[in-house]
Amino acid sequence: QITNIHGREILDSRGNPTVEAEVTLTETSTGKRFTGCAAVPSGASTGRFEAVELRDAQERYFGLGVQKAVSNINTKIKEALSGRNGLDQQEVDRILMETDGTDNKGNLGANATLAVSLAVARAAAESLNMPLYRYLGGVHTDRMPVPMMNILNGGKHAANTVDFQEFMIMPVSAGSFSEGLRICAEIYHYLKKILVQKGLSTGVGDEGGFAPDLPDARAVLTLIIEAIEKSKYPPGKDVKIALDVASSELYNEKTGMYHFPGESSLKGEEIVRDTSEMITYYEELINEFPIVSIEDGLAEDDWEGWKKLTKRLGGRVQLVGDDLFVTNTKRLEAGMKLNVAGAILVKVNQIGTLSEAMEAVLMAQHHGYKAVISHRSGETEDPFIADLAVAVNAGQIKTGAPCRSDRVAKYNRLLRIEEQLGRNAYYRDPFPTV
Ligand code: PGA
Ligand code: ZN
Repeated sequence: QITNIHGREILDSRGNPTVEAEVTLTETSTGKRFTGCAAVPSGASTGRFEAVELRDAQERYFGLGVQKAVSNINTKIKEALSGRNGLDQQEVDRILMETDGTDNKGNLGANATLAVSLAVARAAAESLNMPLYRYLGGVHTDRMPVPMMNILNGGKHAANTVDFQEFMIMPVSAGSFSEGLRICAEIYHYLKKILVQKGLSTGVGDEGGFAPDLPDARAVLTLIIEAIEKSKYPPGKDVKIALDVASSELYNEKTGMYHFPGESSLKGEEIVRDTSEMITYYEELINEFPIVSIEDGLAEDDWEGWKKLTKRLGGRVQLVGDDLFVTNTKRLEAGMKLNVAGAILVKVNQIGTLSEAMEAVLMAQHHGYKAVISHRSGETEDPFIADLAVAVNAGQIKTGAPCRSDRVAKYNRLLRIEEQLGRNAYYRDPFPTV
């Protein structure tokens, strides 16, 4: 039984307020109490169709305070959930949705509903004395995810001239998660050495990847390949590359074109690409570099473009929809009908309850799409998504560089999970045929 719910305002990794909730369950027969606590992340390159993140819009914290969301937890949500069965996550989430009453959590705020939804799951797992991944996923949850590790940041996550948002490495052939993590961390350090040698900045962006000024994607990829080669794990065989272009941020509705401000500033001429030029650009990059996954290659509304992109490149790389699908089963269903993309990026705060996020994963997997569990650029020390990735057998997780404790917390949690799973843990290449 849910006997107490308490929300509070805390800070995220960018120093902006976010919501944390504590939920207490009391065992009716014994009176024993179990508490679960969870914190909500926050994006910078947010999709237009994401659930509403409630912000106070007052002077404090430049309008980003979350006191209203917190107060919704401490009043309306607490009232609606008091006395309910904390072990029935779906019913808890249904009540959260019903109490909100909108399609996009615009009333209570997805930051309020999500904090409570996640905290209920934690408390429930605690009450059953189960690890969270086991509680969420059941018995067959032994698959460790391959990191999609973002080692070079651009776009909205850094103040540099790199226009693509994320350049990630994937240690696909490692024997275990911990080995994959080590390979990635070593490559990260090699990359740092190369940047120092070249006199480039080693300051980091929001997700812990380096953020030097470089002229374009080719220049970045060339440096990354150099770093991978130094590691003795051959690029293209042991270590592959994934991109998150976050192209909705580059798309300009007035011109109908993708604008590259960083590339333009370094090259001294205006660089723009239309949809078909973007697709050709990706094709060239795939031919030159061992790229296995491209996220948000086209804008969130460009369904026609996505159809072409999928037709041309869907057989060669994993095409991931982040802003396109926003962890929303309705948008995913629409996309699957059109046969666009091949994977959904899952960010729990895009939709606002745990059950809905897990439903999106199941729907994707059921239809042969992959699901990649993801952090946000604004994170906290809460490693919930590490457990979630294992629970849903996602096989892939995006959680930044091996730098900044908000990112490392997830990797460290995965190390502990792998240790706990012992010999049952397995790790495998998500794209054995690519
Ligand atoms: P965001 O970025 O959290 O700033 O939206 C992450 C992503 O686009 O994958
Ligand atoms: Zn993205």
